[in-house]
Amino acid sequence: MRLQGKVAIVTGGGAGMGRAVAEGYAREGAAVVIAEVDVQRGAETVEAILSFGGDALHTATDVSNRRDVEAMVQATLNRFGRIDVLYNNAGVQMIGKDARAHELSDEVWERTIAVNLRAPWLTSRYVIPHMLRQGGGSIIHVGSPTGWLGCAPGYTAYSASKGGLIGLTRIMAVDYGRDNICVNLLVPGTTETPLIQDVLAQEGARQRLAAAIPLGRIGAPEDVVGLAVFLASDEARFCTGGVFMVDGGMSAI
Ligand SMILES: NC(=O)c1ccc[n+]([C@@H]2O[C@H](COP(=O)([O-])OP(=O)(O)OC[C@H]3O[C@@H](n4cnc5c(N)ncnc54)[C@H](O)[C@@H]3O)[C@@H](O)[C@H]2O)c1
Repeated sequence: MRLQGKVAIVTGGGAGMGRAVAEGYAREGAAVVIAEVDVQRGAETVEAILSFGGDALHTATDVSNRRDVEAMVQATLNRFGRIDVLYNNAGVQMIGKDARAHELSDEVWERTIAVNLRAPWLTSRYVIPHMLRQGGGSIIHVGSPTGWLGCAPGYTAYSASKGGLIGLTRIMAVDYGRDNICVNLLVPGTTETPLIQDVLAQEGARQRLAAAIPLGRIGAPEDVVGLAVFLASDEARFCTGGVFMVDGGMSAI
């Protein structure tokens, strides 16, 4: 098993890609902490992992809240004693509220930036001291092609938040390279999850979105698991500061 003996935190691990990755990490032997604000979803992921003999813990965590993040890191250490992997997956896309710049409210801008950009820094802030003490680790932020392509018209806050993660990934990779902490950005393309169910429900949206993907289909949550496992594993020991796409080719157009 490729993650045997490792302890991984997966934020937003209660649904969609976070859940698939949490289960994938557990199947590869990692003990997994599901840092998830939705208590029911978090419990369901833990149950699924325990059902196949894995080890997991749910913490009721809003990753944009400093006290929640501190408590989640402490709970991880209390239960498992170390932290090897931080998978910063939790994200929001405020469909119907995100807007063009001059139409965007402060509230939507601030909430989107708080969850999608500030939180990956905040979780790193509290996890890194333990990785430094242990002699290394792997941090994976989850981006989007919207971070550098104008492929989601009207999604100002979301696009800006995901663009910010490219800079965050690169500077953290540089700052912690000598400490053996690898920091990478995993970029999913359009993927069928609860996040975009309202978009997919719009007439013709599914066909239009699939047509923008060279491989000709919308992704499934399981499509990101192989790359997420690789980046968390020792096989990726010489990878840092990278932007890794798993998007069916949509950002190649
Ligand atoms: N689905 C897509 O098409 C797509 C495309 C590119 C990038 N992404 C990114 O991939 C990541 C996962 O997306 P998904 O589609 O699986 O999302 P999802 O909405 O299906 O699942 C996200 C999970 O994060 C949790 N969450 C939300 N805010 C949180 C918070 N403040 N604290 C803790 N947990 C919180 C939710 O409760 C949910 O369980 C996100 O960062 C998203 O921006 C998604």
